[in-house]
Amino acid sequence: MEQAEIGLIGLGVMGSNLSLNIAEKGNKIAVFNRSPEATRKFYAEAGELQGQLIPCETLEEFVAAIRPPRPIIIMIKAGDPVDQQMELLKPYLSAGDIMIDAGNANFRDTMRRFDNLKDSGLTFIGMGVSGGEEGARHGPSIMVGGTEDSWKRVEKVLTSISAKFNDEPCVAWLGENGAGHFVKTIHNGIEYADMQMIAEIYGILRDGLGMSATEIGGVFGKWNEGRLNSYLIEISQTVLTAADPISGKPMVDVIVDAAGQKGTGKWSVIEAQNMGVAATAIEAAVAGRVLSSQRTERLAAEKIFGLPKVAEAPKDRAAFIADLESALLAAKIAAYAQGFAVMSAASAEYNWNLPMPTIAKIWRAGCIIRSAFLDEITSAFTKDPHVPNLIVTPAFAQMVKDTDAPLRRVVSYAALSGLPVPALSSALSYFDAYRRGRGTANLIQAQRDFFGAHGFDRLDGVDKHHGPWGSGLSEFA
Ligand code: 6PG
Repeated sequence: MEQAEIGLIGLGVMGSNLSLNIAEKGNKIAVFNRSPEATRKFYAEAGELQGQLIPCETLEEFVAAIRPPRPIIIMIKAGDPVDQQMELLKPYLSAGDIMIDAGNANFRDTMRRFDNLKDSGLTFIGMGVSGGEEGARHGPSIMVGGTEDSWKRVEKVLTSISAKFNDEPCVAWLGENGAGHFVKTIHNGIEYADMQMIAEIYGILRDGLGMSATEIGGVFGKWNEGRLNSYLIEISQTVLTAADPISGKPMVDVIVDAAGQKGTGKWSVIEAQNMGVAATAIEAAVAGRVLSSQRTERLAAEKIFGLPKVAEAPKDRAAFIADLESALLAAKIAAYAQGFAVMSAASAEYNWNLPMPTIAKIWRAGCIIRSAFLDEITSAFTKDPHVPNLIVTPAFAQMVKDTDAPLRRVVSYAALSGLPVPALSSALSYFDAYRRGRGTANLIQAQRDFFGAHGFDRLDGVDKHHGPWGSGLSEFA
């Protein structure tokens, strides 16, 4: 029998869809699931794709069905189950075989798994896959980290199944070991910020302007035809206009306002902090989810404080809605600029040589943050791949100049109305801090020197690094 080009373990929702996608693109694939019933069911329902599938009920049979060196995708719950699966698989593998973790792994686990296999002759790929169920089935965005040789072994299959933007595949090898999972983590951090910002704008339209879910859906629908064209705006329109079959109310109006999270947003923030990069919009988004989940406390606090009176909406409603559109774009720029800055710092720290234009390119289709905007980011980074911050590229600097005033008006309106906009306001403060040549940290330096003799540099370059603080510790430095 013809051997499979690739194997996949874990026929849950993502694994099944990815397998069908691989099969549909003409690649023979061996599949295995811990419970054989799931494998049988999957095979039975595969219809005309059965010819491309080799369903296996033992690991031995599964491994033997794949052409060496064997690429094996592991698509199971992130964390310990991946380590356990790898241990079970190892005895059946031979030199050159590649275990591929396609879950949302922490890149530190990926680095560890990669290193642990170093002397075994086996290798490891950490592969970020974005696009949810639909993406897995019809074309995800795929971020690969591992050795270049292992990438070459899987390049053809992954290229065939990835999403395409203007015929360009949304898959790339991004660097060694943890590069792919790190980039996927930052993708998700940006996704958190994007979603939070959209939700904040929704809050202003709902609680400030008093619009219904359906009306807000209509606004997003219009925006989706303009500069904000993106998957997240598109699905926001769809969900806002859906009705609850039970109550007949707009579906969003009956959903509890407490957001879940599985960890990738938090990891983005932790890594940004580790790297010393300000990723304030992503931080605000993660904190926003945390506060959202403290619903009981929020309800109790509302009883104590009540809610501030909403400020009078600007007379020209249409102009204010246009401001909201521009404000969202402005804030989005900050979030993406921060995400790319984190990746650029990580690239230097871990010697990945992450290709920024390529990352923007493979996010243009297939993934959750796909958008027209990412095509503009691709052009900006292609022109200047080593720019320190996206917002100083000529195209984005112009966009910031055009949208800065609307963002300021929107954040002011929200502040006066007591409407929480942590991500939008953090984006505004980020611009204001980033573009100010003379900040206020001179005072912080003076304070640090006062209580800890930490020293400071002088603007005039004079070689004196402590202040005349009287009884301050600096005297004894
Ligand atoms: C994607 C998504 C996907 C998933 C996240 C959601 O790129 O396809 O990001 O990975 O939906 O796990 O994460 P939270 O549950 O943390 O929101």
